[in-house]
Amino acid sequence: MKFFLDTANVEEIKQGLAWGLVDGVTTNPTLVGREGRDFEQVVKEIAGIVDGPVSAEVIGVTAPEMLEEARKLAAWAPNIVVKIPLIAEGIKAVKVLSEEGIHTNVTLCFSANQAILAAKAGAGYISPFVGRLDDIGHDGIELVEQIRQIYDNYGWGTEIIVASVRSPQTVTRAALAGADIATVPFKVMGQLFKHTLTDKGLAAFLADWEAYKKGQ
Ligand code: G3P
Repeated sequence: MKFFLDTANVEEIKQGLAWGLVDGVTTNPTLVGREGRDFEQVVKEIAGIVDGPVSAEVIGVTAPEMLEEARKLAAWAPNIVVKIPLIAEGIKAVKVLSEEGIHTNVTLCFSANQAILAAKAGAGYISPFVGRLDDIGHDGIELVEQIRQIYDNYGWGTEIIVASVRSPQTVTRAALAGADIATVPFKVMGQLFKHTLTDKGLAAFLADWEAYKKGQ
């Protein structure tokens, strides 16, 4: 499973890259807005430092608006993937973009049927938002399992990005479900390293080593 960072914060991305864990980056209008920086500048900067796909989202809600924005975004850097919302106009736009060779990430997916439409339109990626489904009492990962099975049934190459991840447990379940990618906030990526028994065990090893050295 690949890891993407779900952030528009360049410092977080640099730290993730230093860990060797960043295969790509996903952004959305909320994450970009949080940085308070110029959209084009921040997306180009991220695309320049990440050796992998960087998703940038369109704002338009009609197919012609999305197509115009998508072509502009895709021209900013070769690794930019255009994020398109899963509405009928979005699926229309994805079909055209895939024929033009522009990579797309279909976002705001909350059902297996929506994921079928995205794959049939030629989306490069589908992003089921598991945390937001959990928020309303569903099991978000069950959706990922369904999409995995459907895509495998038909040999569809659209990659599944588990998005809206709020905990390390979701990362484990995404991997068990066979997701291609988990896009995680920086905080969750840091939490993946952590286990109290690791910290405790390391402290004991170091203390025992000090005692051994003193006895030499
Ligand atoms: O990239 C979109 C997605 O990951 C949003 O997450 O936590 O706002 O539901 P969240």
